[in-house]
Amino acid sequence: MQIQHNQSLKTYNTFGLDAIAKGFIHIISVNDLYEVLAENIKPIKILGGGSNILLKADVDAYVLHNEIQGIEIISENQNQVLVEVGSGELWHNLVLWSLSQNLGGFENLSLIPGSVGAAPMQNIGAYGIEQDATFFSLKAIHMTSGISKVFFKHECNFGYRESIFKNDLKDQYFITHVSYLLQKQNHVLHLEYGAIKDVLHHKNIINPTIHDVSAAVIEIRKSKLPDPKEIGNSGSFFKNPVVSRAGYDHLKLSYTDLPCYPQEDGNVKIPAGWLIEKIGYKGKTMGNIGVHKNQALVLVNYGGGKGSDIYNLALEIKNNVAKTFGIDIQTEVNIW
Ligand code: EPU
Repeated sequence: MQIQHNQSLKTYNTFGLDAIAKGFIHIISVNDLYEVLAENIKPIKILGGGSNILLKADVDAYVLHNEIQGIEIISENQNQVLVEVGSGELWHNLVLWSLSQNLGGFENLSLIPGSVGAAPMQNIGAYGIEQDATFFSLKAIHMTSGISKVFFKHECNFGYRESIFKNDLKDQYFITHVSYLLQKQNHVLHLEYGAIKDVLHHKNIINPTIHDVSAAVIEIRKSKLPDPKEIGNSGSFFKNPVVSRAGYDHLKLSYTDLPCYPQEDGNVKIPAGWLIEKIGYKGKTMGNIGVHKNQALVLVNYGGGKGSDIYNLALEIKNNVAKTFGIDIQTEVNIW
């Protein structure tokens, strides 16, 4: 095991922020992790694809960079495949692999940045599907006892961008492998998201395949969300808030065009991007940072921006949303 001291994290976070970590360790295998635990290295922070963090300042900890690879079919029957994936694999590479095998289930989640280990952590989702739809189980190692544990779906408390690993078990486990159940045939497509239908219609595709859906999702994402290779960003910075139906109806009296997504429990989800756009932040730049011009939910670093500036901008937006609409929006990204 090799510790790199005072390592810049610039190429390890999609915001492209130049924070310095006290120590940096590549975790290529489970054994690397056991070595770290045996040496009692502390404090530790676990980093995956770096696509959902804001490095507010330098990191006074040893950063474990998850590089555990491998995609392996564990079992299969006529209809389904159980695939186990190293948590350091890039999510989109897994999606591409599934498409190359004609396995259905991941197509709506195409082009999401980040690693496989982060997918259950925040229950990634897009265009009508969340990862828990295909999730089967994961293997994780407890960071103090070193004990390995399998978590099945019902033990993960998946919710909207939530799991037990972000809450009750925060920072307690290192996820090493994740297993998904994918469909070999009779693919069930999820086309309810309007923009997917529009793209397919525009291309005259009447009987879409998982490949067509993936291509449509990629097209939509590219049109709305900045490519982190070109403009530093972390996808949606805030979660969409959920309010009561009565709260929504009250707001709608003042904002007649307020969009809503009714939830199964009777509450209503409101797009935070709409709220942020309404208070005038969409496309706003402040020196090297700002709010993306096509998606107000995405904060950006045009290059050379500071994590603390992005953090302050986020606070300002949060406060102004609260002042205008009486809604407290929560960050989706993890703040280090
Ligand atoms: N909207 C605006 N202005 C904006 C942005 C959005 O008015 O600047 C309104 C529009 O009414 C639009 C609605 O918000 O119709 C929804 O926008 P969009 O389809 O872009 O989705 P979102 O709710 O802003 C969520 C996820 C995204 C995911 C998309 C598509 C969250 C926090 N974000 O964004 O996930 O790709 O839906 O399913 O739930 C991510 O988590 O990092 C992420 C990118």
